[in-house]
Amino acid sequence: MTNTIRYDRSADGIVTLTLDDPDQSANTMNRAYAASMSAVLDRLEAERDELTGVIVTSAKSTFFAGGDLPQMVRATRADAPELAELLGTMKRDLRRLETLGRPVVAAVNGSALGGGLEIALACHHRIALDAPDSRLGLPEVTLGLLPGAGGVTRTVRMLGLAGALTTVLLTGRRMRPADALAAGLVDEVVATPAELLDRARAWIAANPRPRQPWDRPDYRMPGGTPASRSLAAQLPAFPATLRKQLKGARLPAPEAILATAVEGAQVDLETAFTLETRHLIGLLTGQVAKNMIGAFFFDLKAVNGGAARPTGVDAPPVRRVAVLGAGMMGAGIAYACASAGLDVVVKDVTPEAADRARDHAERLLARTVRKGRATEADARAVLDRITTTDQVDALAGCDAVIEAVFEDPALKQAVFAEVLPVLAPGALLASNTSTLPITGLAEGVDRPSDFIGMHFFSPVDRMPLLEIVVGERTSDAALARAFDLGRRIGKTPIVVNDGRGFFTSRVIGRFIDEAVGMVAAGVPAASVEQAALQAGYPTGPLALADEVSLTLIQRIRRQFEAASDEFLPLPAHRLIDELVDAYDRPGRATGRGFYSYQDGTRGRLWSGLADLTTDAGRAVPFTDLQERMLFAEALDALRCLDEGVLRTETDANIGSIFGIGFPAWTGGVIRYVRQYAGGPAGFAARATELAGRYGDRFTPPADLDDRLAARTAEPTGVA
Ligand code: NAI
Repeated sequence: MTNTIRYDRSADGIVTLTLDDPDQSANTMNRAYAASMSAVLDRLEAERDELTGVIVTSAKSTFFAGGDLPQMVRATRADAPELAELLGTMKRDLRRLETLGRPVVAAVNGSALGGGLEIALACHHRIALDAPDSRLGLPEVTLGLLPGAGGVTRTVRMLGLAGALTTVLLTGRRMRPADALAAGLVDEVVATPAELLDRARAWIAANPRPRQPWDRPDYRMPGGTPASRSLAAQLPAFPATLRKQLKGARLPAPEAILATAVEGAQVDLETAFTLETRHLIGLLTGQVAKNMIGAFFFDLKAVNGGAARPTGVDAPPVRRVAVLGAGMMGAGIAYACASAGLDVVVKDVTPEAADRARDHAERLLARTVRKGRATEADARAVLDRITTTDQVDALAGCDAVIEAVFEDPALKQAVFAEVLPVLAPGALLASNTSTLPITGLAEGVDRPSDFIGMHFFSPVDRMPLLEIVVGERTSDAALARAFDLGRRIGKTPIVVNDGRGFFTSRVIGRFIDEAVGMVAAGVPAASVEQAALQAGYPTGPLALADEVSLTLIQRIRRQFEAASDEFLPLPAHRLIDELVDAYDRPGRATGRGFYSYQDGTRGRLWSGLADLTTDAGRAVPFTDLQERMLFAEALDALRCLDEGVLRTETDANIGSIFGIGFPAWTGGVIRYVRQYAGGPAGFAARATELAGRYGDRFTPPADLDDRLAARTAEPTGVA
């Protein structure tokens, strides 16, 4: 088997273990690693008397990437014994390392996530290099897993139960080295690779016989053990705290992490390791981890790697971007572009209105500086790249324009007509419209092949998704250019074909309509919200509707009504009209919507709601409440696939999780259909049942099972 760890002993008796898997770009916890580590430990133990200490470092740009995800995704129940043995070996060898009787220092030269950090945790001292892209943490929970190479056991013993759970294990936070230092995960942060090794040697010299805290006779768990009174008092509250953090959703990974941590804190180290392995195998052989690894690792990699970018198309890079409209979206887009090093000119109708883009950037930058994530000089440089104006001429030479004025087709066409003459020849023409068909907007410009939709999400600085919308006449070159621009500013770009509301706005509309419709029919609003949160949605549909603004929802629906003969009035529409028109409750911005808001903070659901509803729906079972929302979105996503709005299932899965908050445990909206109990046929049967009870909109596409089976299996699909 390939050797993945180099062993070099220098004259002073220090062994440097260099993690360097020759077959892969990053080191992972695969079988080759396990075998290499065992061999290394045999040798270290044999040579112990001649050794002064050990430095663990890596020859890759990252220290160590973590678990072997492709192998994990394939794991079935039948593999459990073999997996248990492999995990047992890895843990035993890391334990041999920390009890070698010689100082072991982790010289963490780049990112150490998951397994990488677990190796470092088994060292007596951890020094991290402050590389710009370096991140440390145990992100397993975000993949539906738990850290199973000693990570739960050791962080709990290092940071205490509460500390480990809330800062590391349940958040899955990927921390910069400085934040990892503050959290107590590393002991030192250094600025240069030379310092990294110098400090490691110095620490070895100063600490000839170190022991891990938990191997010292006077060891006490920080915050107390569960047997101690202080922690025993907190323990009963833990599941409640967890539930609150998860907003009521019952997900296997956080629950397994909680159980591993709490049970493991009460037993000896070896037993804790065994518990960790058992819980991890439970997760590995279950479906949720496979769904989440499929989406958050494989799909994400495919999307960001350019699966949807036309191949072989050269696109000149964009350097100077014109942003039209300095409202919420325009300001956010300008900031994102400037942060990525692009020059930005923001135009609005008055200089004061345009200046809001700079104010917005200033506010965000001040926060970044305050948190130590950028220097004053960096912040100044970003701000200096943003120019604001009310003059068309100031846009001269821009090689891309992103329009973010009001959602009004005539206005959008007018602003394009106004700026076109001054832009650089061949400039990319993009609209951030959230619902208007791109093909129609492109009719107003003289080069529709350069016209494309770049649909960002709010708040732009935090939302990773970019939905690129290809109109009927959009060229491959424009698509490639928009794709590259999206990647340049750090977004995850899915590519969809044109249609009203494209993919994301259309499908999220089904979710809101279904939820509001249930309320209109008499289901208590609080039950609808709770059902969504427990299903794993990050925000309840009514809170979301308030956020989007009920007026906007109303306007979009009226545009649709005017433009289409397929429009069907729904009970939800009546309720929203009443809220906006009769009760002046247009949404969060005014402090009054489904909820009441105080100083921007969401308060209670409005008590008057019950009077606006009928009684018919009161007896809807809780599962139906949840599945009506999930199915409304899933069925519409299937229609988007059928109609060609969606080009791939991968885009559907990523877009649904990152753009519109479809529950992450599903691995995305189409995976949800594929993985529903009984597979697509089971999904179709349940949809038929819902159609019988609640209406034709739940009627599934005919032959769903065969159709999904016939779709070419996408490389990332983990079915
Ligand atoms: P907003 O109302 O905050 O801002 C619109 C801005 O456009 C205002 O500052 C206005 O003064 C400016 N404007 C109007 N006429 C102009 C002209 N002739 N030239 C230059 N500027 C002009 O609107 P928001 O929320 O930023 O939305 C903008 C666009 O982005 C809309 O098409 C919307 O559908 C879309 N969008 C909105 C999202 C959201 O969550 N609000 C999400 C994604 C897209």
